[in-house]
Amino acid sequence: IFNQVELAPADPILGLTDAFKADPRAEKVNLGVGIYKDESGQTPILKSVKLAERKLLDTETSKSYLGIDGVQAYNSAVQTLLFGAEHTVIEAGRAVTAQAPGGTGSLRVAAEFVVRNTDSRTIWVSNPTWANHNNIFESAKLSVKQYRYYDAATHGMDFDAMLADLDGAVAGDLVLLHGCCHNPTGIDLNLAQWEVIAQLCLEKELVPLFDFAYQGFGAGVEEDAQGLRVVANVVPELIVANSFSKNFGLYNERIGAVTVVAKCRETAEIAFSQVKSTIRGNYSNPPAHGALIVATILADGTLRTLWESELQQMRERIAQMRVLFVEMLKAEGVEQDFSFISTQNGMFSFSGLNKAQVGRLRDEFGIYIVGSGRISVAGMTKDNMPIICKAIAKVV
Ligand code: LMR
Repeated sequence: IFNQVELAPADPILGLTDAFKADPRAEKVNLGVGIYKDESGQTPILKSVKLAERKLLDTETSKSYLGIDGVQAYNSAVQTLLFGAEHTVIEAGRAVTAQAPGGTGSLRVAAEFVVRNTDSRTIWVSNPTWANHNNIFESAKLSVKQYRYYDAATHGMDFDAMLADLDGAVAGDLVLLHGCCHNPTGIDLNLAQWEVIAQLCLEKELVPLFDFAYQGFGAGVEEDAQGLRVVANVVPELIVANSFSKNFGLYNERIGAVTVVAKCRETAEIAFSQVKSTIRGNYSNPPAHGALIVATILADGTLRTLWESELQQMRERIAQMRVLFVEMLKAEGVEQDFSFISTQNGMFSFSGLNKAQVGRLRDEFGIYIVGSGRISVAGMTKDNMPIICKAIAKVV
C-alpha cells in the first residue's frame, strides 16, 4: 500500500529548521520558527521552571496515569489566567478545561470535538494566519474559509474587510481569532474592535475559537487577555486553545489546554464528556510534567512573581530588538520604511519582504525566515543584528 503514498511538502516553519540545521555556513541565522532566544542566542530554561522542577523532584511520588483531562489544579489555573479570577464564566461553571499537548494539540482536540458532536463544518481564519492552522483544521475535517485581515499597503489591519468577509459566515461557523500577538502579522485588534467582533459573533451566532499562544508577549499577562475577556462577556459559546510553549518556555513539554465555554453549567458538563472522549480516542490522557510545572509556579507566590518578571524580560528584549532592527536597517541605508515593525506585537514581524527576497536571504546569506516574509524577532540578538540588516539591505 505504501507505494501509493505521495511525498509531503516540507513544513513551511519546522521544515526551515531542518534546512537550517543542515546548512554548513557559520554565520547562518534562524529567524524562522518562533522560539525565544536570549541575548546570547540561547533558548534558556526559565529559573522559575527549574525551581518548580526541583520541587517536583522532591515531592512527586508516582508516575501513574493522569485522568483523561489531565491535572486538575493546572486546569483551574488555566481558567484563571484566561478569564481572570472571578469571571462569570468560571463562577457559573460555564467553562470546562482539559489539559492538552501544546497549542496544536489543543486546537486539534477542539476541532475534532466540534466535528464529532455538532453540525458545524466551517472555520474562518485570518488571511494570513499561522501556517499550521489549515493543516490542523482540515485534518479534523473542517472546511477552512478566509477572512481578510492584513492590509499590505499600510502594513496594518484591514478591519472593514475583516467585518465584510465575516458577514458571509453563517450561524454555527467557527471563527479563529488570535488572542494576542497575531501570528504571523504581529497586528492585534484594539479593545473597541474586539467589542465589535464580540457583537458580530453574538448577532450572527458564530463561535469564536481563540488561539491563545502568546499571553504575556504583547503588553502583559492580564492586558493580553482583554480581547478574550471582552468576547467571553458577550458571546454565549466559545472555545480557547492556549499554549505555554512560549510564555513558560516549555516548548518541548507540549503543554496547553482546551477550554470550552457553554451557555450553562449543564451543557458545559455534557460538552466536557465529549472533549474527554475525543482525547481518549487520540492519545488517551496527557503527559504530566509540563502541567505540573505550570501548576506549581502559578500556585506559589514567589515562583509566580519570578515567572512574571522573566516573562517581562523576554517581552522587553523582543521590543528592544524591534527598535534596534528598524534603526539598523536605516543605518545600513535601507530607504524603504520599516518603522511599522516597532509597533507590532509579540514574537513575529510581517516584514513585507517578498518570496524572491526571502529566497536570496537564505541562499546568499544563510538567513532563514518564513516564505511569507514573517521574521521571528525573538531570534534576533545584538550580535546577529548587523548580519541580518546588512543582508536585508542587499536584497531590498
Ligand atoms: C511558530 O509559529 O513558529 C511556532 O508556533 C512554532 C510552530 O510550531 O510553528
